[in-house]
Amino acid sequence: MSLPPCTIMIFGAGGNLSRIKLMPALFRLDLAGRLPDNMAILASSLEEWTREQWIEQVVDMLDAKYPEGYDKKAFARFSERLHYHPNPIGDETAYPKLKEKLEDTSTFPPNIAFYMSVRPSEFPNIIEKLGNEGLLKETSGFRRVVIEKPFGYDLLSAQTLQRGLYKHLNEPQIYRIDHYVGKGTVQNVMVFRFANILLEPLWNRHYIDHIQITHSETLGIGGRADYYEGSGALRDMIQSHLLQLMALVAMEPPVSMAAEHLRDEKVKVLKAIRPITQSAVHAHAFRGQYASGAIDGEPVPGYLEEAGVSEDSTTETYAAMKLFIDNWRWMGVPFFLRTGKRMAEGASAISIRFKTPPQDLLRKVRTEPPKPNWLMLGIQPDDCMKLEMQVKVPGLELSSRTMSLDATYHKEDEENFDAYEGLLLDVLEGDQSLFLRIDEVEWAWRVVDPVLKVWSMEREFINTYPAGSWGPRGTYRLFEREDQFWRHSLELDGSELKAY
Ligand code: BG6
Repeated sequence: MSLPPCTIMIFGAGGNLSRIKLMPALFRLDLAGRLPDNMAILASSLEEWTREQWIEQVVDMLDAKYPEGYDKKAFARFSERLHYHPNPIGDETAYPKLKEKLEDTSTFPPNIAFYMSVRPSEFPNIIEKLGNEGLLKETSGFRRVVIEKPFGYDLLSAQTLQRGLYKHLNEPQIYRIDHYVGKGTVQNVMVFRFANILLEPLWNRHYIDHIQITHSETLGIGGRADYYEGSGALRDMIQSHLLQLMALVAMEPPVSMAAEHLRDEKVKVLKAIRPITQSAVHAHAFRGQYASGAIDGEPVPGYLEEAGVSEDSTTETYAAMKLFIDNWRWMGVPFFLRTGKRMAEGASAISIRFKTPPQDLLRKVRTEPPKPNWLMLGIQPDDCMKLEMQVKVPGLELSSRTMSLDATYHKEDEENFDAYEGLLLDVLEGDQSLFLRIDEVEWAWRVVDPVLKVWSMEREFINTYPAGSWGPRGTYRLFEREDQFWRHSLELDGSELKAY
């Protein structure tokens, strides 16, 4: 689809997200010829930079992102799109001046997307000011607002936030971004499920024992203590990204891939998640915090030693949950979700464990318990699909072993795009399919709110795990049987059976 002339305005343009993701994504889209000729990128932040100084900032960002170098000629063309608008604290004239600036429609086409790359506490104020200047009215072009997660910190605050937005915006103007959903490999879940008939008959409670969704990182919280202390792993990863993954895995086929149809099906899954009562929280959720340890052989500090973290913090850097979806397809099938910082490996995957055959015909020739089939979708760092099956061991005995069908589908010459590249295009094209509707956000809060409530009352103690491990041991109590365990590796080297 070719894009209309447009302007993208980034608030918080000097911050981390803009440096690491947004500006590089826009540059790459320009390189790929995906931006319209008549498109302006207007950056805004607290600094009183000139346009030239801002362009120097962008050069620094791209130098840091692409140390191996990049096309300087292409950058010279790209820099013609770059503009800057200072927005210092307390400057009452910043928004009237912005309005004046945007009236020059030959430089700033009036189809405008405002990207809130700022702290969640700041964007209601920005929207209020844009609204008061009349900049959100769609009289001469589209006006869209992109909002980063977290959308609130619980159900009530999300609803309050939403009421503030609706004063100036309609739902079709609001793009609540979840960059995880923009990952090509996450969208592959939909292709995998809905472009193949083979799996559908198996995709239910009759054949699936349980499903695991994991996102682990070796990184710590970096310089984000300020944000992370108020968030923790459950809000940061599970309420948003992992529940979205779960919804994509579990949803019914939508009527079409249109945004509303897709979002209707995701909401149905979230609504069907069995509520966790306060007394059941410990049976359904587990948290932990990293202590000092080693990553790649290098010692790293524990969470409490990180700059900006209070010494008695019980903020979780690891969270795991067991959830049930009470509907016909999934009744009784546990979904295990887990995420952690400073874990043994950085990897994200969906691992689906099938049930064992109804009759164990080979039990006499086997010394170990039967091995189930696993289907694994690797999301990162490698996108892959693996299916483990039992085959006969060559020889005179009728014994079996596991082999892995490895369908890595990425061809060598196929380039990877960052999630933000696709999502930015979607915003400019007006496609909301991969953005969250308010009811999705609300239902996701309903799932985690009871756990957050109990954890916020338990401030005396938190389990720890050494940095570089697979998380706290106690997390195994979420499983229902002895033969259920966390699947750490997608490889078939026996590590799938290793607990730690
Ligand atoms: C962000 C979280 O939304 O997602 C981070 O705030 C997390 O804490 C990140 O590290 C993970 O996403 P990705 O794409 O970097 O794996």
